[in-house]
Amino acid sequence: MMRSFRDFMESALYDPERGYYSVREKAADFYTAPELHSAFGAVLADRLALLLERVRSGPLFVVEAGCGDGTLACQVARRLREKHPALADRVSFVLVERGRKDLTTAVRRLTAFGVTVTACTEIGKIPPFSGVLYSNELLDALPVHLLESRGGMIHEVFVDDAGREVCGPLSRPELEPHAAALGSLAEGARHAVSLEASAWLAGAASRVREGFILSIDYGKRFAPGTANPPRAFHRHAVETELTREPGARDLTASVDFSALISAGEAGGLALESFGSLSKFLVEGGMLGFLEAAAGDGSAAYRERAKLKTLIHPEGMGEVFKVLIQRKAK
Ligand SMILES: C[S@@+](CC[C@H](N)C(=O)[O-])C[C@H]1O[C@@H](n2cnc3c(N)ncnc32)[C@H](O)[C@@H]1O
Repeated sequence: MMRSFRDFMESALYDPERGYYSVREKAADFYTAPELHSAFGAVLADRLALLLERVRSGPLFVVEAGCGDGTLACQVARRLREKHPALADRVSFVLVERGRKDLTTAVRRLTAFGVTVTACTEIGKIPPFSGVLYSNELLDALPVHLLESRGGMIHEVFVDDAGREVCGPLSRPELEPHAAALGSLAEGARHAVSLEASAWLAGAASRVREGFILSIDYGKRFAPGTANPPRAFHRHAVETELTREPGARDLTASVDFSALISAGEAGGLALESFGSLSKFLVEGGMLGFLEAAAGDGSAAYRERAKLKTLIHPEGMGEVFKVLIQRKAK
């Protein structure tokens, strides 16, 4: 049987028994920013508070999509409670996570902060709301179609039962404009197209009555015709073989933020801001967390190293971006 790379990736990541996210051992292959340091969630919460103050209609909701086991949601809830108590009293949380086990864990952990929590497995099923919807490393984890330049033409990559990658004609008409835009792609180069990320954003936009969607992920605004090969992560190293041992390694592709900005505009979202994670965190007070971690001991050194990874250009600081889109009432 031949499957599109998109269908292969969907099952490698999300098969209920053998998929990567069903068996993932936390932090074994990669760290997400909140797994690295809780200051990430604190700075994010401060920014969410500023955004929520600009939402005029109520009641107010904070929605996290792709929340995993709730590590980030707990950091956000704790900071809101500590630094923005009046606002914390007014907001309810919604957690969206397709993995039911993680969702159950996340709800249990967040409920311990005394906040009202609603849980959902799909963004399309949450009721329309006013407030802020945020995600961290959700969009890079959505399955992508894979296009490749061969013999002066753009083909789609399929995967056979033996894990061999084979080029073939485009499986969906929606890929045609993407293939046309890749005319100058070098021979053998590949470009991941996330129809899913744009569809997810359109679905998310349709749930927001008034407020903001804040998406944090690695990627950039890809210039037309540039390569964007997917990657496999295993034990904190990048591997080039994508189809070996499905479920044993994370598969991911950089997010094309230009596509998200366009999908947002089509769904009534105006661009509020787009920039590096480093800029977002430094403007939000990350250097204060670094100063607070001063000291000579090895614990203080390790903590500073983690904080620096979040903002350093060769860590997460420049590779990760923060996109904020606004829906006015
Ligand atoms: C890389 S993890 C990030 C987890 C968490 N946000 C963090 O920063 O640690 C991506 C998460 O998104 C979830 N996910 C993937 N597709 C989803 C979808 N369509 N709706 C909700 N959650 C999804 C996965 O199950 C996984 O838990």
